[in-house]
Amino acid sequence: MLLRNLFPLVIASALAEVHHLFSGFFSGSTIAGIEFDDAALSLTLVKNISSSSDDGSKWISLDARKANLYVGTTGYFQSYEITDDLDLTYESNVSLSSDCSNANFITASSKSPFTVFGTPYSGGCSTLAISVDDSGTLQETFANATYNSSAGVHGTALSPGNDFLYSADDMGNAVWVHSYDRQSGEIQEVQYLAAATGSNPRHLTVHPNGKWVYVVYEEGNSIATYKRDTGTGKLKFQNETYSLLPSGFTNSSSYWADEVLFSIPAEGSSPKYLIAATRSRTTGISGYVSAFSLATESGGIEEQLFLLPTTNSGGSANAVSPALFSENYFAITDSGSNFIEVWTIDGKDASVIAHLNLENGPANAVWYS
Ligand SMILES: *[C@@H]1O[C@H](CO)[C@@H](O)[C@H](O)[C@H]1NC(C)=O
Ligand SMILES: *[C@@H]1O[C@H](CO)[C@@H](O)[C@H](O)[C@H]1NC(C)=O
Ligand SMILES: *[C@@H]1O[C@H](CO)[C@@H](O)[C@H](O)[C@H]1NC(C)=O
Ligand SMILES: *[C@@H]1O[C@H](CO)[C@@H](O)[C@H](O)[C@H]1NC(C)=O
Ligand SMILES: *[C@@H]1O[C@H](CO)[C@@H](O)[C@H](O)[C@H]1NC(C)=O
Ligand SMILES: *[C@@H]1O[C@H](CO)[C@@H](O)[C@H](O)[C@H]1NC(C)=O
Repeated sequence: MLLRNLFPLVIASALAEVHHLFSGFFSGSTIAGIEFDDAALSLTLVKNISSSSDDGSKWISLDARKANLYVGTTGYFQSYEITDDLDLTYESNVSLSSDCSNANFITASSKSPFTVFGTPYSGGCSTLAISVDDSGTLQETFANATYNSSAGVHGTALSPGNDFLYSADDMGNAVWVHSYDRQSGEIQEVQYLAAATGSNPRHLTVHPNGKWVYVVYEEGNSIATYKRDTGTGKLKFQNETYSLLPSGFTNSSSYWADEVLFSIPAEGSSPKYLIAATRSRTTGISGYVSAFSLATESGGIEEQLFLLPTTNSGGSANAVSPALFSENYFAITDSGSNFIEVWTIDGKDASVIAHLNLENGPANAVWYS
């Protein structure tokens, strides 16, 4: 009795769990089932899952209930049910018109009726609002968020209440805001914000407190901060950017930034980090990954914690994917050298803790557990 009190059985620091990820690929007909063991610090390819397409899975996204995986492949947004043994069963697709067939990005709602927003990346293409059935399987397009002929939207994000859709317009160098009515399904344009020449917004993410939208500028190789009005959903550019390249680099056109996401906090907490990366355009020359600390109350950026070279260029990926189980871990994909890694953040530093070579170029990975 006394001994048990003196030597508690639970050691708080070790997680000692196996976590599951799915990774899509830019080509082929396989989606990878991957495990990360946080005690052994190992990544293992456990399943080559056959997809119902021979043209890759260039963007994948889980639904909020983790019952379905949505996949963008040329010409289609597809829906797969996640089975108990973490396999995927193809269920349905929404087919795209031939002029907007580049299914490139998917945002799944966190609230009922769990609408899925799919964006083909090509000039003038709309974001499709796609309905799902009770089990989350994709049904049909019921509305569009429209842009204009100069727009080419590469990424979207929803507000915490799922009542506004934010679109990063890479070709049109702008950010668009649309309102979305969950009851009526109606989508309306609310705001268009041109970005400074040479920015090219690629992806964006809305802080869970609703007060900020952080945008990754692909051409600018930077993170830009936009203040959000929680009532109107409108944004105000803060004229504040943080570079994703070391100071002194004059060759920013040799890089193209790609992703920005928050670390995933425990329920009810505020994210600690904003994590972002840029790719180098030359295999053999590293891209960069960076994290910023965020103020707990305001959600504003406090400081850039680190800016580190990635293992290789990132290829067309270097897509960061924050872990579900700890804010200090994230995955990153490299399609130039065909691998996935897990990194850990330690104060103002970060490092690779697990590496898995793959036979093909991974696009983005999502954590299932
Ligand atoms: C997955 O496919 C690759 C390439 O064919 C092969 O090397 C690997 O052993 C397979 N892994 C599993 C778990 O099936
Ligand atoms: C899309 O759905 C149609 C109709 O069910 C089916 O014939 C086609 O094979 C599917 N294609 C893909 C790539 O999912
Ligand atoms: C959405 O846009 C597509 C292509 O622009 C069009 O074919 C479709 O009719 C639109 N759907 C709705 C519900 O507005
Ligand atoms: C697209 O819309 C924005 C905002 O109204 C405008 O500034 C831009 O010139 C438009 N581009 C085209 C090609 O219409
Ligand atoms: C941002 O700041 C720069 C440098 O002070 C200034 O030249 C530019 O006009 C500002 N842009 C906006 C949109 O406020
Ligand atoms: C860009 O310039 C830096 C500094 O001169 C150099 O180290 C780096 O290799 C260059 N990057 C590419 C992708 O060429």
